[in-house]
Amino acid sequence: MNNRCILQLALLLCFSTTALSLSYNLLRLQQFNSSVECQKLLEQLNGRPADCLSDRMDFKIPKEIKHPQQFQKEHAAFVIYEMLKDIFHVFKKGYSNPDWNNTIVTDLLSELHQQMDLLNTTVVEKLGEENKRQAYSMIILRLKSYYVRIRMYLEAKLYSSCAWTVVRDELYWNFSFINRLTDKFQN
Ligand SMILES: *[C@@H]1O[C@H](CO)[C@@H](O)[C@H](O)[C@H]1NC(C)=O
Ligand SMILES: *[C@@H]1O[C@H](CO)[C@@H](O)[C@H](O)[C@H]1NC(C)=O
Ligand SMILES: *[C@@H]1O[C@H](CO)[C@@H](O)[C@H](O)[C@H]1NC(C)=O
Ligand SMILES: *[C@@H]1O[C@H](CO)[C@@H](O)[C@H](O)[C@H]1NC(C)=O
Repeated sequence: MNNRCILQLALLLCFSTTALSLSYNLLRLQQFNSSVECQKLLEQLNGRPADCLSDRMDFKIPKEIKHPQQFQKEHAAFVIYEMLKDIFHVFKKGYSNPDWNNTIVTDLLSELHQQMDLLNTTVVEKLGEENKRQAYSMIILRLKSYYVRIRMYLEAKLYSSCAWTVVRDELYWNFSFINRLTDKFQN
């Protein structure tokens, strides 16, 4: 390989890593924005101020998820993507709650979908099968069962207003966790 080629190769490599770190930084800002937007929408889904104490539930979040500092940047992207997807699937049923304004539910779903698309095209697709496999074997499968418990709880409570309030509160705080994971995108 002659010198010119090596230079071109080096430039190319340099450009592509810069491009990925640029997109990580932009993605981080957009993810924060999107979380703020989702939390604002969730606050508006208040319904009646019922006392839902007896409906409280511990959905048993997997322990590993409480320590986002141990995640790698590459895995964090998959975890966030899957959380948004699961949150999306929970709230798709939200139209059935007569206490909720359907316009707000629609806005929430479209915000979640937009952010999933963005994550998908900027990172998730580029990270490859090996990172995906690792992220899934480590944490995402356990995380999935957490969201299955939430969906089963709603079903068991016949999608009552109180059950929705409990779930809304739970998922509201999930966005704070997503933000901590998003910090991983910082270089
Ligand atoms: C985040 O939101 C602020 C205010 O709404 C806006 O000025 C900024 O451009 C947004 N940033 C991104 C990366 O979307
Ligand atoms: C539902 O929310 C939208 C957007 O915030 C608002 O314009 C509309 O008036 C609300 N509808 C009801 C019935 O409260
Ligand atoms: C993300 O990409 C995968 C394929 O890479 C596709 O199956 C999936 O539907 C995409 N999701 C979104 C929300 O765009
Ligand atoms: C969701 O929020 C609840 C309540 O703050 C918290 O206990 C749980 O760990 C969060 N789950 C995720 C996946 O962040």
